[in-house]
Order: sequence, then structure tokens, then C-alpha cells
Amino acid sequence: MAGRLERKTAVVTGGCSGIGLATVRRFAEEGAKVVIGDIDEDRGPEVASEVGGTFVRVDVTSKEDVDTLFRVAKQTYGSVDVAFNNAGISPPEDDSILDTDLEAWRRVQEVNLTSVYLCCKAALPYMLEQKRGSIINTASFVAVMGAATSQISYSASKGGVLAMSRELGVQFARDGVRVNALCPGPVNTPLLQELFAKDPERAARRLVHIPMGRFGEPEEMAGAVLFLASDESSFITASTFLVDGGISGAYVTPL
Ligand SMILES: NC(=O)c1ccc[n+]([C@@H]2O[C@H](COP(=O)([O-])OP(=O)(O)OC[C@H]3O[C@@H](n4cnc5c(N)ncnc54)[C@H](O)[C@@H]3O)[C@@H](O)[C@H]2O)c1
Repeated sequence: MAGRLERKTAVVTGGCSGIGLATVRRFAEEGAKVVIGDIDEDRGPEVASEVGGTFVRVDVTSKEDVDTLFRVAKQTYGSVDVAFNNAGISPPEDDSILDTDLEAWRRVQEVNLTSVYLCCKAALPYMLEQKRGSIINTASFVAVMGAATSQISYSASKGGVLAMSRELGVQFARDGVRVNALCPGPVNTPLLQELFAKDPERAARRLVHIPMGRFGEPEEMAGAVLFLASDESSFITASTFLVDGGISGAYVTPL
């Protein structure tokens, strides 16, 4: 049986770890040529060789790096069909607004939000020329709900990713290009593990609010990204695609 991404080229940022890595593997299983853009030069070549893809060392805050990433995809495989703009950070210095300084605020905005602007800006001309493409930007459930245990810049950056994705989805809907925002709930990845290892009480507090009573797994995100990337989601654009174990639907959770 042919894979769901056969003859498609997919660019994945943050593809060396967590949600990005699981998606790189899933995309490759489904027949895609995968181009991995990540700052992690140690893991990058390993991941690329595992899936028979290409690694490009990219800092997603650099316009030059991002433009090169998409150019390499086009030159190597002939098209840019899927862009999963997913790299992001969640550093401990980003906390309550009362404690988060301007430097920490700006860093998170650059890596989480400006990067998505750069990636969309770089991918769109290829997709518009082809008259087809699917962009998936990683936002978060915190883009639609407030948390008392705040990470102020992170939440604001993800709200920005969601609004940008919606607007791009509307703008390019008649040009064959779909743009959706993936909004994961808490997922069991190094990003979350790092954050909660420092504060187990915070982790326990998050679990209480998830109806399913557990964190998501990266592979569960990859399944959703695959759906949004493939033609199976051909009537879905500008959507807030929540994959959150029920968090955003819950008022009271089962004990
Ligand atoms: N894990 C969660 O609970 C969760 C929940 C909601 C949203 N998200 C979002 O999902 C995305 C992926 O998160 P994850 O949990 O898989 O994280 P992760 O830390 O496991 O992986 C992030 C990847 O991004 C790369 N990266 C970081 N900064 C970069 C930069 N400047 N340039 C290029 N690459 C860079 C890292 O090297 C790493 O490979 C992020 O946008 C995150 O905000 C995660």
C-alpha cells in the first residue's frame, strides 16, 4: 500500500527531539522525503540517516538559515509540500510576568514565534508556485487557555502562532495551500520533562486537569500532524487543531 505522503517533501523544524522527531519518523514511514532543520548538530545527521532524509543545521531565529533550509528541500527533492514548523523552547527563566525579564521574554518570542513567521515566509512562495502545500505550525493548548502556573512569554508566543496560522490559512485558502495550528496538550518530551523535573508539584498540578489523566506521547502528536499534512485533511485549514487529552473541553475532570 502506498504511503500517505508518497512523492511529497516535508520540512520539519525541531526534528531532532520530541514531537518533531516522532513526526520525522512517521512522515518517512509514510513515504515522504524528509528535511530536518534543527540546531542540534550532534543528533541531526543520525536522525537524517535513520530516515534516509537530509539534515540542515538551522537556527530558526535566523532568516538566512531558514531560507537555506527550504531552498535545500526544493533543490534536493524538487518540491516543498509540507512544512511542520515546530521548533520551540520553554526555558525556566520564562515564568510569571512578575519575574520574567525582557531578555527571557524576547528569546522565547524569537524562537517560538518569529521562527514561525520566517518558516512560513520561506515556504509559501514554493507552495504558491506549486499551487499545493500544507503548513502545520506548532502552537499549544496554552494558546487557548490561561494557566495560573504561567510562562508568560511562551503562552503569548503560542497565541501569536495560533493567530498567524489562522490568518495565513484564510489568506491562502483559494491557492491550494492549507495552514493549521497544532495545539498539543502536555506531551512527554525532553522539553516537558526538563521543566517538570525541577518542579514535580507543578507536574502533578497539570495532570489533575487532563481528563485522560496522563501526558500525551510524541507519537500521538505525530499521528495528528500526519493527518494535517496528508490529503486526508483536504478540507481543513485555518483550524485550531487541539490534541490535548480533553483539557480544553473540561470543566471538571474525573478523579
Ligand atoms: N512537550 C509539550 O508538552 C508541548 C506542549 C505543547 C506544545 N509544545 C511545542 O511543541 C514543539 C516541540 O516541543 P518538544 O516538546 O518536542 O520539544 P523538544 O525540546 O523535545 O524538541 C525541540 C527541538 O527543537 C530544537 N530547537 C530548539 N531551539 C532551536 C532553534 N533555535 N533552532 C532550531 N532548532 C531548535 C531542539 O534542538 C530540539 O530538537 C515546541 O514548539 C513546543 O513549544 C510542546
